[in-house]
Amino acid sequence: MAERTILITGGSGMLAGRLKAHFSSQPHTTVLTPGRAELDITDEDAVLAAVRDLAPTVVINTAALLVEPCEADPREAFRINAWGPRNLALACAENEAALVQISSGGLFGDEVRPYNEYDPVVLKTEYARSKFAGEEQVRAICPWHFILRLGWLYGGGLDGRRDFVAARLEEAKGKDVLESAKDKFGSPVCAADVAELLDRLMEAGAFGLYHVAGAGGCSRAEYVAAILAAAGLSARVEPVDSSSFPRRAGVPACEILESWNLGYAGIPGLPDWRESLGAYVRHLVGGKA
Ligand SMILES: NC(=O)c1ccc[n+]([C@@H]2O[C@H](COP(=O)([O-])OP(=O)(O)OC[C@H]3O[C@@H](n4cnc5c(N)ncnc54)[C@H](OP(=O)(O)O)[C@@H]3O)[C@@H](O)[C@H]2O)c1
Repeated sequence: MAERTILITGGSGMLAGRLKAHFSSQPHTTVLTPGRAELDITDEDAVLAAVRDLAPTVVINTAALLVEPCEADPREAFRINAWGPRNLALACAENEAALVQISSGGLFGDEVRPYNEYDPVVLKTEYARSKFAGEEQVRAICPWHFILRLGWLYGGGLDGRRDFVAARLEEAKGKDVLESAKDKFGSPVCAADVAELLDRLMEAGAFGLYHVAGAGGCSRAEYVAAILAAAGLSARVEPVDSSSFPRRAGVPACEILESWNLGYAGIPGLPDWRESLGAYVRHLVGGKA
């Protein structure tokens, strides 16, 4: 296998941590994970210099402004989520590096059904609009791109990174009942699974757009119930209307994903979402994540 250097932007983030753990354990692979202070993707000169000097084979862009801050500051949302990928795409195109753009499954609407790569986007939030704009920059500028739209991401572990699953286990401590939304649907996906699937796509050189999530879908309430059950906790979930959790962003009702492109590329999709979730929760509870 040829030597490869992987540059992961947004290096202090949750997904970046898991990507680093995966790729660092692979042979012939050097992994570089600058955080925002070392490499701000909105700084075009710094991005060009970094890609020129570090000569990565692949750049993985995990850096992003997430949902609520995007709604609060749309100008900043597009600066980070659209202009940042544009800078990276220019630098990768100039230096013949591949670019992996991490995008989101939250680009669709309220109809509850699985969405594939050929469904038209709906773009209900500033986050969705800015992430889709970032995809378009990457598609237009860098011919060697992978765009991964992720489902509901978890898997940061116990090392202090933000993680939905760890947060629910923490919330359940000393409680009999947890409220969770019955009218928001999605497909949970484990960050470690994202890393493995991305590695297979890179190995196959299968550039393109992919929906990446555990197979199947669930409501947020079913997701939380599965977390508690996997941890062996007796707390129960009360399914409630999402209006119980007021948010600035009008997120879509449905983020259930399926992938047609993985099938066309001959790459196996991820197992049922419950499988990886169960394994991850057991690791967390055992303190091994
Ligand atoms: N979390 C989810 O449920 C989910 C679902 C689908 C897709 N995604 C996508 O997955 C990716 C990773 O998400 P995550 O959950 O790992 O988020 P995260 O933990 O917030 O990581 C994102 C990182 O990007 C950094 N960052 C922000 N602006 C930057 C800039 N201008 N230059 C360089 N770094 C910058 C942040 O640093 P600071 O904290 O210092 O600002 C943060 O460390 C994102 O692209 C996100 O859109 C996430």
